[in-house]
Amino acid sequence: MKKYLIFSFLMVATLFAQGPRLIIYSETGPEKVYFSTSNDARACKKLEAIGVCLERWDTKSDLSDEEILTVYKEEIDRIKEQGGFVSVDVLRVSPEGENKSALRRKFLSEHRHSEDEARFFVEGTGEFFLHVRSKVYRVFCRQGDLINVPANTAHWFDMTEEPFFTAIRFFTNDEGWVAHSTEDQIADRFVHPTPRATLSAFR
Ligand SMILES: [Fe+2]
Repeated sequence: MKKYLIFSFLMVATLFAQGPRLIIYSETGPEKVYFSTSNDARACKKLEAIGVCLERWDTKSDLSDEEILTVYKEEIDRIKEQGGFVSVDVLRVSPEGENKSALRRKFLSEHRHSEDEARFFVEGTGEFFLHVRSKVYRVFCRQGDLINVPANTAHWFDMTEEPFFTAIRFFTNDEGWVAHSTEDQIADRFVHPTPRATLSAFR
């Protein structure tokens, strides 16, 4: 019994340390939560059901852009072939960036792309909000995650008030993604429904 209690405590402590992985809300707002988990496998199962791919890759820190493209070449080539991507770039965003508020706002309104949006988090964090069938899937991405949002999925991305991430982005053409606004103000209802202390657990 004692062993079981210790095991349970460790499990809960581990989940708390990892932070949320996926929360599914009603599209009416973050007050109504249908599902939440810190577990990668459970999150993946829910995301697969809406066509979203979430993979985990091993990561290395403190790499230059050139080194990132070399170190992850094998995975990059595989994703390019699978998704029909023709080019990649490396995007770095840091809390010290002068234009971080403007940059955050740029991705905070709901939009669609006519091609898949795929990115790999070499380091740092970010949150994708996917608006599918009257629900909002909030995916907490972190270092080592590859996420692929299917074409024509309504979504937005929140890099948070203190943005920090380095990501490999995959493109199907040299112009990059073109965002088509849905003109829906839904994202305004979901800005930071979780306290900052919870989000900082990912750093
Ligand atoms: Fe997008």
